[in-house]
Amino acid sequence: MNNYTIDSNKKYLELYNSSTQSPEKFWDKLASNNFVWNKKWSKVVDWDFKKAKISWFKDAKLNITVNCLDRHVIKNPQKTAIIFEPNNPNEKHKSYSYSELLVEVCKMANVLKSMGVKKGDRVCIYLPMIPELAFSVLACARIGAIHSVVFAGFSSNALATRIDDCESSLIITSDGSYRGDKILNLKQIVDDALEICETKQKVLVVKRTNESMNLKHERDYLLNDLIDSVNDVCEPEIMDAEDPLFILYTSGSTGKPKGMVHTCAGYMVYTSYTFKNIFQYQPEDVYWCTADIGWITGHSYILYGPLSNGATTLMFEGVPSYPDFSRFWQIVDKYKVNQFYTAPTAIRGLAKQGDDFLKDASLKSLKVLGTVGEPINEEAWEWYDNNIGKNKCPIVDTWWQTETGGILISSIPNVIPDKPTFATKPFIGIQPILIDDSGDELNEANIVGKLCIKYPWPSIARTIWGNHERYINTYFSAYDNMYFTGDGAFKDDEGNFRITGRVDDVIIVSGHNLGTAPIEDAINEHKKVAESAIVGFPHDIKGNALYGFVTSKDEINDEKLIRKEINNLISNKIGPIAKLDKIQFTSGLPKTRSGKIMRRILRKIASKQYDDLGDISTLLNPEIVQEIKDNSI
Ligand code: PRX
Repeated sequence: MNNYTIDSNKKYLELYNSSTQSPEKFWDKLASNNFVWNKKWSKVVDWDFKKAKISWFKDAKLNITVNCLDRHVIKNPQKTAIIFEPNNPNEKHKSYSYSELLVEVCKMANVLKSMGVKKGDRVCIYLPMIPELAFSVLACARIGAIHSVVFAGFSSNALATRIDDCESSLIITSDGSYRGDKILNLKQIVDDALEICETKQKVLVVKRTNESMNLKHERDYLLNDLIDSVNDVCEPEIMDAEDPLFILYTSGSTGKPKGMVHTCAGYMVYTSYTFKNIFQYQPEDVYWCTADIGWITGHSYILYGPLSNGATTLMFEGVPSYPDFSRFWQIVDKYKVNQFYTAPTAIRGLAKQGDDFLKDASLKSLKVLGTVGEPINEEAWEWYDNNIGKNKCPIVDTWWQTETGGILISSIPNVIPDKPTFATKPFIGIQPILIDDSGDELNEANIVGKLCIKYPWPSIARTIWGNHERYINTYFSAYDNMYFTGDGAFKDDEGNFRITGRVDDVIIVSGHNLGTAPIEDAINEHKKVAESAIVGFPHDIKGNALYGFVTSKDEINDEKLIRKEINNLISNKIGPIAKLDKIQFTSGLPKTRSGKIMRRILRKIASKQYDDLGDISTLLNPEIVQEIKDNSI
């Protein structure tokens, strides 16, 4: 049986059963039949969750770019691999066929080599959504360098932390980036980051906006000056299955960001398999994921998943609101997009603009719609279904994480029915379970619990860069022999999962993971601030927004000014995405007798659930609750 294409519910059930009953046999066959290997594995999977030791396809040899590029160049060289739609609709778009993309990737790989980059070196990529971002990522993979893409909306401080943590030797950036009608000076942000970085970097600069910039002698190099003199062939580095492919940082509930490490073979197999089936991609389709490659969604479902399937994948540089709110729909019609994958926050933002922006859109080409990054509320789901899918496109609500590498829970068009607000069923090989507070498995239906996964899947992260202990503690120590996701979920009587949200101190704002600790650290640097606590509260468009409770060291005369200064500090330390929507000054924070801030109470107040504060009598300072309630915003 061809186990690669899942085209009926019967087949899904057969494959699901064999993948969970005999995982080694299942993945052995799937990986053998569908990918190019330089050497086969000695063991399919080896794992010990206690030590967080996981390996897939041990001793196998491969290069992921051969699977994403060379094999398609042999079969179908003229097929379009990447369509690039610029920020400005008046600028001409660009398309790269598989053979053109291979040439671009090889040239970029040779530039990296000429700058001294070798297998295992870390390369930090801080670029807007331009084709060179794709070339850079794939060029690293070509030569075995480990890419660490940092979303180009992060501040210089956040960038510096990430550069130092992975000790990269080279950073690839551009002079500037276009975002709607704004230009962001990326090179200046990199310059500022390098002022504070401890590790020495070379900088490779792509020209995009023609901003003026300072080029530092023997540190900064223009891509334009190097690209013409390199060869357009670059032999792929033969990688071990478990060699790191990339590091991608994600926020934790405490301290500094976690550099999640993904490795070559398992990541390739799983992202490829999920892409093909969850989006039901057919050979002539045009697929568009609106995420940024700076996030895991872009890694797995703009680049590696689609390209390993020989798909046509669209990259959009701009924003949904520029030149106006019809931009997404114009792009769908312009390229006859068949699969469209976006975030609930974008859907809510567009729905709010009204249907006028849809009146000239045909949207006839669409076959499958997708969402990712946060729970989608019913209203947004219905709007998406009615107005974009015209009630004929299945909606895949895909649940997964930076750590999981690929989608773990989702419906599959015409195979597993969708259900509004439910991610629905586990993908092949995935064994999700719900756990109660005492760590026991919940087997009954219609119940809420903490979501864990029982058995490894090929694209699970292997470690946190430089801190394996933290990896064990965060994901494998809460419950025996299980991966703990940090999310809560509800399971209905048909086995459909609905994700209820984070159960730790991570808050998802507009689909971005934000840890409370680093934001509080940033606020506490303000000279007037004594202490702060951040919680999330429901927001119409962002899903959640941030509410800060702040105590000051002395009297504050101009609250407006301090609010502004606090948000500037956050912008500086982390990036504008972490700014607070509301800041309430208070004379104290509710604390337990051991001095821990009771965020549960603050969360309720921020969400205006005043009658539901629970028992506050055990607090060290119960009287503060009334004050906070009275002054809440
Ligand atoms: O809370 C879940 C939420 O996003 C978290 C993972 O964030 P990140 O690592 O940034 O990856 C986002 C893109 C994969 C999860 O722990 N999340 C992600 N997808 C969904 C979701 N919550 C509900 N429904 C989803 N479909």
